[in-house]
Amino acid sequence: MTSYTELGLVNTVELFKKAVSGGYALPAYNFNNLEQLQAIIQACVETKSPVIMQVSSGARKYANQNLLKNMAKGAVEYANELGCDIPVVLHLDHGDTLELCKDCIESGFSSVMIDGSHHSFEENIALTKKVVEFAHSRKDYVSVEGELGILAGVEDDVSSEHSHYTQPDEVEEFVKKTGVDSLAISIGTSHGRTKFKPEQCTRDANGVLIPPPLRFDILEEIERRIPGFPIVLHGSSSVPMDYVHIIEKFGGKLKDSVGIPEEQLRRAAKSAVCKINIDSDGRLAMTAMIRKILAEQPEEFDPRKILSPARDELKKLYMHKNINVLGSANRV
Ligand code: G3H
Ligand code: 13P
Ligand code: ZN
Repeated sequence: MTSYTELGLVNTVELFKKAVSGGYALPAYNFNNLEQLQAIIQACVETKSPVIMQVSSGARKYANQNLLKNMAKGAVEYANELGCDIPVVLHLDHGDTLELCKDCIESGFSSVMIDGSHHSFEENIALTKKVVEFAHSRKDYVSVEGELGILAGVEDDVSSEHSHYTQPDEVEEFVKKTGVDSLAISIGTSHGRTKFKPEQCTRDANGVLIPPPLRFDILEEIERRIPGFPIVLHGSSSVPMDYVHIIEKFGGKLKDSVGIPEEQLRRAAKSAVCKINIDSDGRLAMTAMIRKILAEQPEEFDPRKILSPARDELKKLYMHKNINVLGSANRV
């Protein structure tokens, strides 16, 4: 058994308090491999941003949970070596069972999400409460994120055909009865690179899809019901068309890609939204650079030469997010 303090990690409690009062959101970036982790740490150190490094069930299967834990420990040491002691959280993304959450907590995660959003309201409360009781009773308090409302979108383990916006009249009871530290809500974001069907969007003069706006009215009503309580947005990639175009230019097929406009995320980050999850944009950035290098330098076969431009692009993307979208830069 490992406690997260032994790995140099922190939970989200103080970070969220500061983010809510400071009008910014913490970046929550997923990682599965060395290059993603390097890009996250380099970008967050250079922008002096606290960071939440997220591990999904898919990442655990892909990379091995022991390796991931030790990579997180290494990431903290790497940040120190780069000269900035940024707060680092290791968070389980979309935990779906008590057992999985317990396993992560006992192996050194400082924060977990229990995603009971596909259960009934009562079952969601019961499951979330069990995770909270376990997490909060540890010698080192582990923070817990719950979810109310369902995001549409399809992405491996996280899938739903239709979204159900969070009902503001449920949030107070959920937060009180479960004791969660933060709440993920559904206001129109969704997972993956096709966040809306073309028929839900309009098109600009160039035929580019323009998505319907996020439901800020629901967010405001939720904030009125639970003032100052930390809110989380999943599915918050913006799906930059520059990356989509590079991928398509070099043989990829990414029809009907559409994300959440960055101005809307910036607006959300100024509210009680204090954690914004971004994964797909990073996948696009890396894939764009990998396809470009492979096409332009067909003689190259050293993976380091293929992956380092992808890692550099990812770092650039994360720096941009921290500075211009989340507002988390210079907050340590
Ligand atoms: O919300 C899901 C994240 O993007 C993680 O995706 O389950 O494919 O690792 P994954
Ligand atoms: P995106 O697919 O929009 O990047 O969302 C990631 C996410 O919510 C991880 O939990
Ligand atoms: Zn998510």
